[in-house]
Amino acid sequence: MKLLSLVLNGDRVETWIMGHEMLLEVLRERFSLFAAREGCGMGECGACTVLVDGLNVNSCLFPALEAEGRRVETVEGMAGAEGFHPLQQAFLDYGASQCGFCTPGMLMSARAFWQENRNRKVSDTEIRRALAGNLCRCTGYFQIVEAVRAVMAEKGDEDEG
Ligand code: FES
Ligand code: FES
Repeated sequence: MKLLSLVLNGDRVETWIMGHEMLLEVLRERFSLFAAREGCGMGECGACTVLVDGLNVNSCLFPALEAEGRRVETVEGMAGAEGFHPLQQAFLDYGASQCGFCTPGMLMSARAFWQENRNRKVSDTEIRRALAGNLCRCTGYFQIVEAVRAVMAEKGDEDEG
């Protein structure tokens, strides 16, 4: 067993893990964070997407030990004291979540894109490219792109929510 220490949704946490465990297992089994889920388990669907130091990763393939000392964010930490993150609100407003299976991962990829690009105008092509690793069987992606576009078009200089 090895001791893993990381900053998880803003809190410094520690847990003992097996060296071979993936971040997805650790999030779900040690920290009861169930939003990221296993779809394919092979890095193809994006249902397990979380952020590590602000970048979206497939946690099903991300060795948990590589998260040592790093900042990990899941959708559970996305809302603030004032309510939903603007992306979460936009997903609701635009009907971008239907069955919801892809939504946590989709929101994480959208958030990484938003954090990186919110101070500039982006194209739909860029949004689609940013979300290309997240599969959705329900929406046809149109509402998702609309939701992200709406948030990106808002004032871009707010502090991270
Ligand atoms: Fe990780 Fe599909 S479960 S990419
Ligand atoms: Fe059902 Fe995306 S909302 S898979």
